[in-house]
Amino acid sequence: MAATPIAVITGASSGIGAATARQLAAAGYRVVLTARRKDRIEALAAGINEAGHQATAYALDVTDRAAVDEFASAFRTLAVLVNNAGGALGADPVASGDPADWRQMYETNVIGTLNVTQALLPALTESGDGTVVILSSTAGLSTYEGGGGYVAAKHGEHVLAETLRLEIVGTPVRVIEVAPGMVKTEEFATTRFRGDTEKAAKVYAGVDAPLTADDVADTITWAVTRPSHVNIDLLVVRPRAQASNSKVHRTA
Ligand SMILES: NC(=O)c1ccc[n+]([C@@H]2O[C@H](COP(=O)([O-])OP(=O)(O)OC[C@H]3O[C@@H](n4cnc5c(N)ncnc54)[C@H](OP(=O)(O)O)[C@@H]3O)[C@@H](O)[C@H]2O)c1
Repeated sequence: MAATPIAVITGASSGIGAATARQLAAAGYRVVLTARRKDRIEALAAGINEAGHQATAYALDVTDRAAVDEFASAFRTLAVLVNNAGGALGADPVASGDPADWRQMYETNVIGTLNVTQALLPALTESGDGTVVILSSTAGLSTYEGGGGYVAAKHGEHVLAETLRLEIVGTPVRVIEVAPGMVKTEEFATTRFRGDTEKAAKVYAGVDAPLTADDVADTITWAVTRPSHVNIDLLVVRPRAQASNSKVHRTA
C-alpha cells in the first residue's frame, strides 16, 4: 500500500494556513502544521485528527534558519510544501514608513519562504513528485498607495517563485504561486494595524463578500491536486467586488 503523502503548511495557526491544513487533510494528505503559536496548531491538529484525518503540529519560526533545518531533517520525502506564513505590517507611505517594518516583512515573507523551501527541496525532489506552493498576493504583482514594504516583500516572493521554477525545471518538483486579493481573515488586517480593530475593520467595510480563508484554501487544494504534469504557474484570485488592488466596490 502506498504511504499517505505528506503536506507541510507554514503559518497554519490561523486564516488561510489553517483552512488549507483542514482542506488538504480532507483531500487525503497527512498534514504537518507549523507556526510560532504551538497551542493553536496543536488544537487545530487535534480537531483534524478527530475528524478522521491525519495531522501533527510543530512549532516553527520560519525566519529561524537553524530551527527550519532541524525541522526539515525529519523529512526524507515530502509531497507538498505550502509557504503561507507571512503578512503585512503598517500601511504607511514610502516617505514615512518604518525601515524596521520593511525589514521584518522581508524577513518573514521572503527569507522565511526561502529558508523553508531550501531546507525541504531535497525531500520534495526525493518524493519523485513534489509541489511547492508560494502564497504571494496581488500585492506581489502591482502596487498601491500605502502598500510600500508589503508590496516590496510580496514582489520578492513572486520573483522567488518565478526564478525557482526556471531553475528546477526538469526535476520532479513543480512551483505553484497563488496570489489572492482581498481575503477577510481573522488576523491579517489586525496584525497589519498592530491590534487596532477599528482600522482593520475599515479594510473590509462595505465590501460585498471579500474572499474567505476557505476560498483561498479551496484554490490551493485544487491547484495541488491537479495531475503531476499540470503546473498552475500563477493563479490570481480576487473577490468579485475587487477589480484591482485599489479599485474596490463598496456600498455606502
Ligand atoms: N488576508 C489577505 O487579504 C491576504 C491576501 C493576499 C495574500 N495573503 C497572504 O496569505 C498568507 C496568510 O495570510 P492570512 O490572511 O491567513 O493571515 P494571518 O491570519 O495573519 O496568518 C498569518 C500566519 O503566518 C504565521 N506567521 C507569521 N510570522 C511567522 C513566522 N515568523 N514564522 C512562522 N509563522 C509565521 C502566523 O502564525 P504565528 O503568529 O502563530 O507564527 C499565522 O499563522 C500571508 O502570507 C499573507 O501575506 C493574505
